[in-house]
Amino acid sequence: AFHKDPKQVKWSSAGIFGTYDRVQLQRGFQVYKEVCASCHSLNRIAFRNLAEIGFSEPEVKAIAKNWVIEVPMINPDTGEAATRPGIPSDKIPLVYANEVAARAANNNALPPDLSLITKARHDGSNYLYSLLSGYADVPANFPADRRPEAPLHYNPYFHSLAIAMAPPLSDGQVTYAEGQPEPTVDQMSQDVAAFLTWAAEPKMESRKRAGVGVIVFLLFLTGLAYMSYRRVWAGLK
Ligand code: HEM
Repeated sequence: AFHKDPKQVKWSSAGIFGTYDRVQLQRGFQVYKEVCASCHSLNRIAFRNLAEIGFSEPEVKAIAKNWVIEVPMINPDTGEAATRPGIPSDKIPLVYANEVAARAANNNALPPDLSLITKARHDGSNYLYSLLSGYADVPANFPADRRPEAPLHYNPYFHSLAIAMAPPLSDGQVTYAEGQPEPTVDQMSQDVAAFLTWAAEPKMESRKRAGVGVIVFLLFLTGLAYMSYRRVWAGLK
């Protein structure tokens, strides 16, 4: 393999005491919604799950309402598939009806569902960040007969170095709320990677808390066991 190893980010969620930065996750969701969602679904996440990253109930309802949900019915007036606005219990819907439709819209490439992407790739969070922020010009010494040609784009972090996804982000592409960092490609890439890390493992914090609790308990139990051992054998030499 000739691709580069991912750049390493200091994630707040890393380590045994790691927690998600909710404000960052909300920025990441904004990037997903405004940029990635036109091609990539996130079908394992329901709108109501967004409450876990700090959106209020009215905000969740408003977000869901802006998505169009297809219902298994034909609209009798138009003959088209019937739709309704989303509600919190809906999953974030598929973008395309099936793989054929997805490929037809993307030069025969397939944009994967992003729900588990940070788990599906080695060093997933760093990889996602690196992939999004790592588009570059083809190096001068690159073999001429291997240069990616349209519709492929050179990306040193992609396994084949030639990816069918055009660079999705450019500086200032989304507008973050007052007081948030500048929406540079680097910042948006980190934010959406953090959001998709949460999407792939929403229960990470309670898993780690349980682990720390178990270790503390076992240390305590070891102390007790040692003390009773001393007492049981106290009279024997
Ligand atoms: C592939 C993320 C926006 C089209 C991918 C992959 C990821 C990703 C993680 C898989 C790479 C791999 O297989 O290792 C994102 C994110 C986006 C975004 C986070 C928003 C910031 C878009 C948009 C489009 C698109 C807007 C369509 C215009 C594709 C396609 C592929 C792809 C066609 C398949 C590439 C290939 O197999 O060569 N994207 N994407 N993506 N994406 Fe995106």
